[in-house]
Parts: sequence; C-alpha cells; structure tokens
Amino acid sequence: MSKTLLITGAGRGIGLEMTRQAAMNGYQVLACARNIKESSDLTTLTKKNEAIKLISLDVTAENSTKQIAADIKYKIDILVCNAGVLNGYGGLEDEAHHSQAIQNVLMTNVAGVFFTVRSFLPHLVKKNSKSEEQSGTNGKIAVISSIMGSQERAGSNAPIYRASKAAATNLARSLAIELAPRRIAVGAYHPGWVRTDMGGPSADVSPHESAAGLLARFDKLNMTNTGIYESYKGEKLPF
Ligand SMILES: NC(=O)c1ccc[n+]([C@@H]2O[C@H](COP(=O)([O-])OP(=O)(O)OC[C@H]3O[C@@H](n4cnc5c(N)ncnc54)[C@H](OP(=O)(O)O)[C@@H]3O)[C@@H](O)[C@H]2O)c1
Repeated sequence: MSKTLLITGAGRGIGLEMTRQAAMNGYQVLACARNIKESSDLTTLTKKNEAIKLISLDVTAENSTKQIAADIKYKIDILVCNAGVLNGYGGLEDEAHHSQAIQNVLMTNVAGVFFTVRSFLPHLVKKNSKSEEQSGTNGKIAVISSIMGSQERAGSNAPIYRASKAAATNLARSLAIELAPRRIAVGAYHPGWVRTDMGGPSADVSPHESAAGLLARFDKLNMTNTGIYESYKGEKLPF
C-alpha cells in the first residue's frame, strides 16, 4: 500500500515541487493550498496524477483546519508543514514590518505549524509495534524552517522572518520531545536558498534540487534522530 504525505503551501514554490516529486515517488499526496482556484500549476499537475488529492487549507485558520482533518479518512505517514511567508528583507526600520504583516508572519510560520500538527496528529499512522524496528516511527512531521532562524547565524535583515523561523525550529524541537512517547519523529529543515517567489531569481538552488533533497531527508528521519535541524543536503545546522 502506498504511503501518504500531507503538505501545506502546495500551490507554488518548494511545496508544489515536493508534491510533484512525492507523487512520482509513489506517495499518495494530500496537497493543501489556501487558493486552489488560483493555483493553476497545482490543478494542472493534479489532473495528470491520480495520486494527488487537493485540499483547500489556510494554516492560520485553526477551526477550518480541524474540520478538514476530521473529515479526511487517510492515515498520514509524513506531515510536511511547508506554508510560509516573508514580509520583507529590510531591517528594523523597514516599513514592511507593520503590525498586520508581523501578525501574518507569526500566524503563518509559527502558529500555522502548531495548528497543522495539532489538527492532523490523530491521522499519523499507527503501525503494528511488533513489526517495527527500535527506530521505527508511527509517523513523521517535517517543519520547513530556515537557516535564517539560526541564532548562531544571526543576520542584519528580515528580523521578523528570522524570529518566526527561530520559533518554528524551536517548535519542532519541543514537538519532538512531546511526541517521542508516541513514536512520532519530528525534524526542522532548511530547504536551501531556492529560486521561488520567496527566494527570488538569484537564489542558488532549484526547486527540483531542494524538493528532492528534502524528501530524501524525510526518509532518513526516525526516532534515533528526532529533533534534528538540518539542510536539504543533510548538513546539521546550528540552532
Ligand atoms: N525560497 C527560499 O529560499 C526559502 C529559504 C528558506 C526557507 N524557505 C521556506 O520554505 C517554505 C516554502 O517557501 P517557498 O520558497 O516555496 O515560498 P513561496 O514560493 O512564497 O510559497 C509559499 C507557499 O506558502 C503558502 N502559504 C502562505 N501563507 C499560507 C497560509 N496562511 N495558508 C496556507 N498556505 C500559505 C503560499 O500560498 P499562496 O500561493 O496562497 O500564497 C505558497 O504556496 C516556506 O516555509 C519558506 O519560509 C524558503
């Protein structure tokens, strides 16, 4: 039976590419996008691929996320919290850091991860523990964070985005501890500097390379390395 991967922010960028590749790799993909009608690349991809099921989901809307989770029948093997926003690369005095933008970044990049995990947690697969190895998991959660949230690699731009990604990585660490008794492994990942709407055209990694690397890293996630913070290439990152 094929495994199931649920991903948020699947409409474009790295999320769209992970959706494409996960389906190619044999996963049933539950591809969540907040604006399905406007995600023409995703709807075109879905028409060509029966393994992809579209779900309309805004990660900041907890009640509707809970309802969507309650309505789906799938068991989920990998939950990928990918949806994210960046409200400007400027520093402290950048006018892009106004309260509504800050609220949106924190609600999406931090609370959005929390709501997604809390809503879909009951769907993470429960396997027969007897057939599991010591490192076996009952499911995996991948949080797409960023090296920009690393305390040791602090920088002078995008302070709100950096703070949100520091929190996303921290949340992944906390969840790894809380969910360990249920044998659910959690990792935080930096996808590279990727040529998407967010990363811009000068970024040095293609969405294809980033998505392939991330999916390979999710394969390696288990109960022995839960709580990991690493890049799409598998480099350990400083918190
Ligand atoms: N690109 C990079 O260089 C880079 C580097 C480090 C980390 N990251 C992280 O990687 C992830 C993907 O980034 P990307 O480069 O693919 O960005 P992107 O091209 O800007 O795409 C972001 C995706 O997130 C979705 N999204 C935003 N707010 C949402 C919400 N409230 N509910 C549901 N979906 C929402 C967007 O949906 P809409 O189309 O509806 O807006 C879009 O599908 C993000 O978490 C980002 O922070 C990216």
